[in-house]
Amino acid sequence: MPTKMILDCDTGIDDAMAIMYAALHPSIDLLAVGTVWGNVPVSMATRNTVHVLGLAGRTAIPVAQGAAGPLLGGPVEYAFAVHGDDGQGGAYDGTDHGPSVPISAARQIVETVRANPHEVWLVPVGPLTNIALALALEPALPRLVKGVSLMGGAALAPGNFSPVAEANIAHDPEAAAAVFRAPWPIVMAGLDVTMKILLTPAHRATLAAGGAAGAYLARVLGFYGDFYAATAFDTWSAAIHDPIAVAAAAGTLGIRRAPTVRVEVDCTAGPSRGATVCDLRGRHPGTPAQEGAHCTVLLDADDTIASDIVALIAAA
Ligand code: BDR
Ligand code: CA
Repeated sequence: MPTKMILDCDTGIDDAMAIMYAALHPSIDLLAVGTVWGNVPVSMATRNTVHVLGLAGRTAIPVAQGAAGPLLGGPVEYAFAVHGDDGQGGAYDGTDHGPSVPISAARQIVETVRANPHEVWLVPVGPLTNIALALALEPALPRLVKGVSLMGGAALAPGNFSPVAEANIAHDPEAAAAVFRAPWPIVMAGLDVTMKILLTPAHRATLAAGGAAGAYLARVLGFYGDFYAATAFDTWSAAIHDPIAVAAAAGTLGIRRAPTVRVEVDCTAGPSRGATVCDLRGRHPGTPAQEGAHCTVLLDADDTIASDIVALIAAA
């Protein structure tokens, strides 16, 4: 049986890859996609999401628009420097789509999960605002889903938004804290793994030689890889990030090391605001199991997933 999934994206270049992977993989039943502010304003995330689903030939998948800013309000900060002014590396070549369904992303989560009780993985790959709003709409959500596989956080790795905080969590720490506190199984695909699974120029060439979806992604990735070359790696290279959370939920990621531990989000106003504080003491022999721990923190995974994702998208 394919894994039923709801994606929640701030689309975004790596989000576009996550959408294509989830939409095209035969082991995944992508029921719905929600959009959220983050990399770009939410209306741009919606437009990009609808466009990318169209390139994957999956126009029937509903796209609901979600939150335009953090749960408690406050200033918004976008990531145009990473994803380009259009969120697609300056390569956006579509028209201006709005959402395809007239409900909020949070409402869509609740309704889709109620229609598929105990079967759905929520896969948020942007700020966790919509997931926190869905929890408020339906407090029973944690026992109605299979789990939450999210891209966000950093356990042992440095942050990318601040020295210790990853962007998706740092954009809305209060929403993230609500999500990490809720009693559902969480898989945290954070910077510990997503900064180690990289796309190379050879991957990009494979995409470019593929069909419409692959060729588009190859164009879009140019800007993203240039950003990573300038800021993190010596050569053109791109951290995959968001598709890793999809693969973890679908069981297509070779997970090597992933302890299940307690995680708290720092919501203070200090320098570690937005950090995911992971209690990794359980890694050492003799440390007692952590009562109530429900967050599986990916620390190491098989990087062959990069080639698998590229091959799937190029073949579409
Ligand atoms: C995360 O932040 C966004 O820029 C990416 O799309 C990814 O979800 C990486 O920290
Ligand atoms: Ca994202």
